[in-house]
Amino acid sequence: MHNHTTQTEKNLESAFAGESMANRKYLYFAKIARNLGENQVADLFEETAHQETGHAFAHLELLYPSKEMTVERILELAIEGELYETNQMYPEFERIAVEEGDQAAVSEFQEQARESQEHADIFIQAAKRFKALGLVERFHANRYIKALDKVQNKTAGIEPKLQSNDAGNRDNQSGSESAA
Ligand SMILES: [Fe+2]
Ligand SMILES: [Fe+2]
Repeated sequence: MHNHTTQTEKNLESAFAGESMANRKYLYFAKIARNLGENQVADLFEETAHQETGHAFAHLELLYPSKEMTVERILELAIEGELYETNQMYPEFERIAVEEGDQAAVSEFQEQARESQEHADIFIQAAKRFKALGLVERFHANRYIKALDKVQNKTAGIEPKLQSNDAGNRDNQSGSESAA
């Protein structure tokens, strides 16, 4: 689903899934223990659940190295995951649940497919907003360069040396701007 193709990458995906499930399962067990009045057992489950999150994050760091990630990429990955759930995973699970006559599971899969679609829509909107924000930032960068030009033109006669240094920096900035 996320272009992880080696066996080790697949194993990391499985290990990540297992640790993530342990986290949610222990939080669920903690809730049960607390409802049964066993607060110490509940605390133990919650504490261990937090450690499972750490284990899951360690696997994620190898699968999606944080240094390589951008806002566009993480939104894209989230959209991809939610659309996979809503278009492929849940419809297939629903089909099997119908075959097996498990009506509770059919309803559950239909409901979760709808919610995955909602999540996908929310992330798609965020991705659009983020791109728009990128344009606004570039607009501000351009205004900043123009303002800098004005200041430098004013000071040109007073401090010619400083002005020529700044002009060099400005050219670099313009260069990286157009490359972005
Ligand atoms: Fe673990
Ligand atoms: Fe979701």
